[in-house]
Amino acid sequence: MLEQRRVLVAIGGGIAAYKVCEIISSIFQSGCQVRVILSEKAQDFITPLTVATLSRHQAYTDELFWRADNLRPLHIELGEWAEIMLIAPLTANTLAKLTYGLADNLLTNTVLASRCPVLLAPAMNTEMWEQHSVKRNWQQLQEDTRYHSLEPACGLLACDRVGTGRMAEPRAIVAALSSLLYTSGKRDLVGKGVLITAGGTQEYLDPVRYIGNPSTGKMGAALVQAAYHRGAEVTLVHAPIDTEALVSLPNLVTRSIVTADEMLQAVLEEFKKADWILMAAAVADVRPAQYHHTKLSKSQLPEHLALEPVVDILKILGSHKHPHQCLVGFAAQTGDIVTPAREKLHHKQLDVILANPVDQIQAGFASDKNQGVLLDRQGRERVIPSCSKLELAHRLLDFVKEYLAFLK
Ligand code: CTP
Repeated sequence: MLEQRRVLVAIGGGIAAYKVCEIISSIFQSGCQVRVILSEKAQDFITPLTVATLSRHQAYTDELFWRADNLRPLHIELGEWAEIMLIAPLTANTLAKLTYGLADNLLTNTVLASRCPVLLAPAMNTEMWEQHSVKRNWQQLQEDTRYHSLEPACGLLACDRVGTGRMAEPRAIVAALSSLLYTSGKRDLVGKGVLITAGGTQEYLDPVRYIGNPSTGKMGAALVQAAYHRGAEVTLVHAPIDTEALVSLPNLVTRSIVTADEMLQAVLEEFKKADWILMAAAVADVRPAQYHHTKLSKSQLPEHLALEPVVDILKILGSHKHPHQCLVGFAAQTGDIVTPAREKLHHKQLDVILANPVDQIQAGFASDKNQGVLLDRQGRERVIPSCSKLELAHRLLDFVKEYLAFLK
């Protein structure tokens, strides 16, 4: 998804500039070609040498821009070269210039001299972010389809205050860039309600012991990012997982649960307004037959643990599904992955299922990569070789779209 893609990073004058070094390094290591513009003030925080070393290419500054010996104007060269542009940290000053189409430096001239999608990651003090003028400018840019944005998060700021204004986390920015490169900035899921489940449920025996599984929720989180970046209205029902990469997605509805019963409850409440339901959670199959409200001592632990079955959420959804809804399941398998996955597809009345070989290195639980075979009710099969979970998420969304288009 990122191999040889051309990413132009423009760094603004703010302390979060140091975090952009991590972004440059990460996307370079993923195979992208990276060029970097440093605004004059950005150079007070990080140097041209830093970004040149990380991107393996000279850094572009205003000093180079205004030189008489440029063969072609630098803003035109860079603007034509870029497939995508990231502006991070976006300062209040640059935000205002973008809003009014002003161009007084290399960064702003390059924006005006190009057509590629632009990803904005603002960072500033809370008072600045909450100023009416800043809010109005930000709102105005949201209406321009060229701009894609990651809202600043709440946290400790360089001014020692805790408030909204921290730049989105580098990995959230890299994910948004990757999605934009995949879709070329198209928001093809606008108006779609997508309900996603993620993580492994935990079925407690007593307050400190539970039956669980190794799911980390990374595949579910990747599906959230992919669907969100494509414009869907996303609701996430998740077991205990790391949601840090999702905090900069405004309007994402999240519901945190622990047990399969709680997941069933939350999913049934959200089900009606969903067009697509992607059931990536690793839901328990059984739970302890009895829950003890106080901690059992070692000597009180039963020699044999009595278990009872947990309701199959997906099967219930399959029998309640409306014709406009599309139900997607995940089958974590070892050995032959396709035969049992196809059985689950029919047995649970699903539209699509991803057969996932969890016994392969770099696939399944906790890995950043995944692979598998997508199957649909029409008998189509698509093998997805090992790739990032985000890319797999996009390919799954494409497969669902094709399946639905075929049904029409
Ligand atoms: N699933 C569910 N409720 C459960 C168990 C599973 O909704 N109690 C869903 C999962 O979220 C997944 C799909 O069913 O999308 C398949 O899960 P998997 O564990 O592979 O299959 P099971 O149906 O549990 O069958 P088995 O464990 O026997 O392979």
